[in-house]
Amino acid sequence: MLRRPRRNRKTAAIRGLVEETRLVTQDLMFPMFLLEGKSKSVEVESMPGIHRLSLDFMLKEIESCLNLGIKAFDIFPVVDEKHKDKLASRSHDPNFFYLKALEEIKREFPEACVMTDVAMDPYSTDGHDGVVDEDGNILNDESLEILGAMALTQAETGIDIIGPSDMMDGRVEYIRDILDDNGYENTSIMSYTAKYASAFYGPFRDALDSAPKSGDKKTYQMNPANLREAIIEAELDEEEGADFLMVKPALAYLDVIKLLRDNFDLPIAAYNVSGEYAMIKAAAQKGWLENDQTMMESLLSMKRAGAKVILSYFAKEAAQLMK
Ligand code: PBG
Repeated sequence: MLRRPRRNRKTAAIRGLVEETRLVTQDLMFPMFLLEGKSKSVEVESMPGIHRLSLDFMLKEIESCLNLGIKAFDIFPVVDEKHKDKLASRSHDPNFFYLKALEEIKREFPEACVMTDVAMDPYSTDGHDGVVDEDGNILNDESLEILGAMALTQAETGIDIIGPSDMMDGRVEYIRDILDDNGYENTSIMSYTAKYASAFYGPFRDALDSAPKSGDKKTYQMNPANLREAIIEAELDEEEGADFLMVKPALAYLDVIKLLRDNFDLPIAAYNVSGEYAMIKAAAQKGWLENDQTMMESLLSMKRAGAKVILSYFAKEAAQLMK
């Protein structure tokens, strides 16, 4: 036998030499859920180990993550039902607790990279990412105005990256224009470029209590059957000024990550979503899968597929393990 591939696997040292992909803590971004009030920590039942935190606790959590080498955070607000309305008006009310908290986080930790989410669903009585009319249609251009106002108010808090997760057409350019017109040309945009209408978002919607009140998200989020369509979305986001292209979810969409990595020069991000986290945690709790190895193998697969940035609820655990 002339070729014996096992020779390159025979010792840990040789395996290290030929190792093609390495996950490092600086690749990770940690999504977090912010609660209004003080001294609150409420575990998300469907996401064991993940807690919704009030600002005081979140500041502590961010500090401990920074000490582990995690420098990027994606912060989502848990919005009480009483603050919700049809047009998500709290989303661009500068006195709303989420926006105040972002200011505080950036004041405490200017070195942290903070990303915010632009979509109406957590603030909307309809639970949709855009404006819903009487017939249940999601109105694109009317939504842009609200998303633009939301993005600007978030940028004003000093955060680093705007994350439009709403999948309305034209939103990246719309937001880029508003940011630039108001002096926020240095605020980045990580576009949820290929965001699929996925069942893997279930636990996230539990965390934020943000599930759609009627219908589904199939008229704006992508059909899981489609790959080529991701190219159309990516071309638009690139032209419209996005700084990062995101694929979401990650594990069931590694081919999409690879496709965008091979065809675009912008950094690719993968969102390892709530349902992907829940699956591993549930199996690990039952003793059916080994938690740490399964976690690291799935994060590694996202990087191997071509994601440079990985948003994951495993970020802290993975960083602890890598330390
Ligand atoms: C909402 C939003 C969702 C997620 C991030 N932003 C859910 C949805 O579109 O319904 C999902 C994240 C996750 O599942 O971890 N715009």
